[in-house]
Amino acid sequence: MPDSIDQMLAEAREALQSAQSLSELLAVETRYFGRNKGLNELRRSIGTLPQEQRPAFGARINEAVAALTDEAAERKATLSDIDLQRRLASETIDVTLPGRCQPEGGLHPLTQTAERIKAVLSGMGFEFVDGPELEDYQYNFAALNYPEDHPAMDEQNSFYVNDSQLLRTQTTALQGRIMSERRPPFRIATIGRCFRYEPVDATHHHTFHQVDVFMVDKGISMADLKGTLGSFARQMFGPETLVRFRPDFFPFVEPGVDYSIHWHGRWLELGGAGMIHPNILRAYGINPQKHSGFAFGLGIERTHMIQTGVNDLRLYLKNDMRFLKQY
Ligand code: FA5
Repeated sequence: MPDSIDQMLAEAREALQSAQSLSELLAVETRYFGRNKGLNELRRSIGTLPQEQRPAFGARINEAVAALTDEAAERKATLSDIDLQRRLASETIDVTLPGRCQPEGGLHPLTQTAERIKAVLSGMGFEFVDGPELEDYQYNFAALNYPEDHPAMDEQNSFYVNDSQLLRTQTTALQGRIMSERRPPFRIATIGRCFRYEPVDATHHHTFHQVDVFMVDKGISMADLKGTLGSFARQMFGPETLVRFRPDFFPFVEPGVDYSIHWHGRWLELGGAGMIHPNILRAYGINPQKHSGFAFGLGIERTHMIQTGVNDLRLYLKNDMRFLKQY
C-alpha cells in the first residue's frame, strides 16, 4: 500500500507539471483531491490495513496531500502568470495609433441664421415666443385687418386644412395671439416655418422661414422702427450697413414700408415693416390714442442668401451634404 501512495504522488506531480492551463490544472486537482478520488480514495482504504500500519499510512497520506497542495498552488501561480503574459501580449493597445475619426454634425445654415437673429434681437430686449404652424384663419388673416376677399390674401395662397385652419403663411399670425392675452408694453419676436401655395423657383418656396418682431408701448413711432431695423442690420451685416425704407402696403400696418439693406453696391429687400394698424390695437382693446407699436417680418432664407451669396433658395431644403457642409 505505501507504494501506491508513492506511485500516486509521482503520477499527480507529473500531471500537475504537464497541465498547460488553469482549466487543465483544475481537472488534475479534481482527479487527485476530489471526494472519493485519488488520495481520498487511498485514505478510505486505511480500514483494510492491519491495525499497526494504519498510523504510518495515514501520516504518509497527509504528507502527500500537503506536498501536492503546495505544488498545485505553485503551478497555479505559474499558469496564472503565463495566462496574464499571453493576454497582455494579445490585447496590447498601441496608444500612438491615431484615433478613429467620429463624423461631426453641424447646425443647418438656417438654424445658424435663426440663432444669430435670436441673439441680436434678444440683446435688444425682445422676448421670443413660438406660434403654431397650423394656424387659425382668424389669426393668419382676419385678426390682421385683412378685409374679406381682399386681394392681398391672394398673394399668400395657403394650404387650407379645413375652412378655418391653414398652414400659416406668415409668422405675423402670432400678433393676435399675443394681443389677446397680454397688455402693453410688450416686445415680442418669433421665428418659424411658413407655407405658401406658390410656384417654387430660386427665390420662392412652398416652405420657408420668417422672423416676425413687434412691440407696443406708449409713444412708439417710426423712429423706433427705423432705429431698431438699422441696429439689426448693422449687427447682422456689419457696422457700416445702410438701410432703406420705401412705402409698401400690408393690411396690418399703417404706414407700411419695405425694408432693404445696401449690400455690395445693391439694395436688397429683406422684408416688410410698419406701424401696427390702429384697427388691430382696437380689436384687442388697446387704445391707439395711448399706445402704438411697430412690426416687421423678414425671410430667414433671404437673410442667409444675402450674407453668403447662395443664389438658389431651394438648396436649403434639399439636404445635400455638399451644400450643407459649406456652412
Ligand atoms: C410678410 O409676410 C409680412 N408678414 C411681413 C411683415 C411683417 C410686414 C410685419 C409688415 C409688418 P412678405 O410676404 O413680403 O411679407 O414676406 C416677408 C419675407 O418673407 C419676404 O421678404 C421674403 O424674404 C420671405 N418670403 C415670403 N414668401 C416667401 C417664399 N415663398 N419663399 C421664401 N421666402 C419668402
